[in-house]
Amino acid sequence: MGAFENIGISDPVSLKRRFEQLIGNSPAIEEVLEQVERVAPTDSTVLIQGETGTGKELIARAIHNISSRCGNSFVKMNCAAIPLDLLESELFGHEKGAFTGAIAQRIGRFELADKGTLFLDEVGDIPLVLQPKLLRVLQEQEFERLGSTQTHHMNVRLVAATNRDLTEMVKRGEFRSDLYYRLNVFPILLPPLRARREDIPALVTHFIEIFCRRMGKQIEHIPPETMIALNSYPWPGNIRELQNLIERAVILSNFGVLPNPLPTAASKDAVIVPAATTLRDSERALILNTLEEVDWVIGGTKGAAAKLGLKRTTLICKMQKLGIFRPSPEGSQAITGPSPPEPVSLSRQ
Ligand SMILES: Nc1ncnc2c1ncn2[C@@H]1O[C@H](COP(=O)(O)OP(=O)(O)OP(=O)(O)O)[C@@H](O)[C@H]1O
Ligand SMILES: [Mg+2]
Repeated sequence: MGAFENIGISDPVSLKRRFEQLIGNSPAIEEVLEQVERVAPTDSTVLIQGETGTGKELIARAIHNISSRCGNSFVKMNCAAIPLDLLESELFGHEKGAFTGAIAQRIGRFELADKGTLFLDEVGDIPLVLQPKLLRVLQEQEFERLGSTQTHHMNVRLVAATNRDLTEMVKRGEFRSDLYYRLNVFPILLPPLRARREDIPALVTHFIEIFCRRMGKQIEHIPPETMIALNSYPWPGNIRELQNLIERAVILSNFGVLPNPLPTAASKDAVIVPAATTLRDSERALILNTLEEVDWVIGGTKGAAAKLGLKRTTLICKMQKLGIFRPSPEGSQAITGPSPPEPVSLSRQ
């Protein structure tokens, strides 16, 4: 039976529509989406891990949206944003008078998410003292509001996310191992943007379209050196950082040209090859640039493939497709440079 038959999603087009906000078709993101498709129709707990800004919340919402619970609530709770003394009542709710300041009854997030999905964001920040209570609820599927003895059965699908290394936290005694194993039923690890640079051009275009629409502006050209700089930057803040920089660039743009939003120091090293004309040319220039930086070493941890976030074989395949060869010492095998500079065009045919 296909993964979607039990929730009536067998049509790949409708599936695509539900993923439409998720840009990227690199092998790394395709693998993640395949895991999302597999786990979404089940009720299993999902633990999403990845650096800041890699799209953990977007993936959590995608899991809810393609699950049979999509008609019910998606309730988010950021465990890092709520003070310790309020966290328990936020999760489980309380009765009037349960503690000083409990002036009225309050429904907790587990109850709000009934028949839906509870997204526990920054789950690594749940204080140690609260962890046994959360574990008990997850194991027994029932809870009581603070100040009440009445037990509520829960029907909640749990998706948790964190940018912290939970296994390290378990080793240091900062996170309970039993809770970790209970959460880690189906782990999804989101790759950092630098490990899927192939997606950068599509993300750049996607965010340009969003911000242009929002600001009533138009961008028709991305100068090739800007594209090369965006492609080579390490993106420590991942997609969120890219999104914010494109927003800034669209604000600063004049005459339909996207300015380079990166600080000069970050772009300087990248622009050492001749300007490219198309996305294919920028990709070619980026690969050439990287190969020259590492003295044409392709494999290994310091090689071009690792720097570009590509598999060795993928890089070799791309080099063949793009006609990139290592120049011989005498220079007899010339590297043909990209065509003369011309900006990348965003206008649709
Ligand atoms: N594949 C993607 N396609 C389009 N936009 C994306 C993608 N991944 C993330 N984004 C956007 O990037 C921003 C950051 O994503 P999100 O909030 O899901 O990251 P996060 O991993 O939860 O970050 P943090 O750990 O800092 O909370 C959001 O605006 C989101 O819409
Ligand atoms: Mg988040």
